[in-house]
Amino acid sequence: MQHSIFLCDNDYLNLINHKDVIQRQVDDLESSVGRGVAKSSFFLSDGDPHSCLEKDMGDWFGKECYLAQSGYAANVGLMHAICRPGVNAYVDQFLHMSFYDGLAARHVNVHSNKHKNFAQLEANIRMHGPGVTMVESVYSISGALAPLEQIVRIKKQYSCVLVVDESHSFGVSGSKGYAHMMGLQDRVVFATASLAKAYAIRAGIIFTSNALHVKENSFTYIFSSGLMRNDIVWICAIWEVVKAANDRRRKLLDASHLLRTEVSKVADVIKSKLLFLLLSLAFVPKTKRRWLAFIDISPLMVF
Ligand SMILES: Cc1ncc(COP(=O)(O)O)c(C=O)c1O
Repeated sequence: MQHSIFLCDNDYLNLINHKDVIQRQVDDLESSVGRGVAKSSFFLSDGDPHSCLEKDMGDWFGKECYLAQSGYAANVGLMHAICRPGVNAYVDQFLHMSFYDGLAARHVNVHSNKHKNFAQLEANIRMHGPGVTMVESVYSISGALAPLEQIVRIKKQYSCVLVVDESHSFGVSGSKGYAHMMGLQDRVVFATASLAKAYAIRAGIIFTSNALHVKENSFTYIFSSGLMRNDIVWICAIWEVVKAANDRRRKLLDASHLLRTEVSKVADVIKSKLLFLLLSLAFVPKTKRRWLAFIDISPLMVF
């Protein structure tokens, strides 16, 4: 049988058309009084399905949880909440734009290092002092895995706060993401993720020890309407699927491995220690001009 690999979106576990999950949404729409109202999550009460899901997901992850409107909103809101003018923010040059957006609103001192250049990161911290260090577990631009052990060591040595964006690993590197897979979850003060990847919905998430503090200081939480009831029903249902999706995760990595192997026969593939789904290709044409193509792979037909 011939397989195809679908390269055009981030539905890593091929869940967007999951019949049971869709049915849960349909049933809820039919049985409830509607889609709920669009309002700031600031006005949610404890018994609300949104608050209950946050509580359940937080308990499962081992921290408190904040469900945001998107991965972008989660990162922007987190920067609002934890940064004040004059704070040092240490960023990799390939860090996602959402962090820069949140940092700009707080007038922090941003110190950038070249992609994965940890000597430069350390030099920056030595020069400017402790601050907030932000990394992506899997960089969306390069496909590289962050060497979390090394980053945790730096964070500890220089008393920095560590934020890890797990957008491309949450639900993919095991169900709880890369830091959990490495046993380093307790060293990460703030884990964020877009749910538009493995969870196949536009929403975002933050895990931390004090979600209320983040919420109460995040403009995106207070001043923008939160997720709709139907979104919550989807996340609730898909979460159960993602937790049990070891077969899908294995197939995804197999597909990634296959693609990397085949592509590496015709082009240089930037290698990371672990096989991963983001594939970065470095072509070196005869003219010596270098250009990069970045492809998120999401296998469709292999399931
Ligand atoms: C690493 C990373 N963080 C955050 C986001 C933003 O997520 P969302 O699309 O849910 O706003 C993305 C989106 O691609 C991403 O790759």
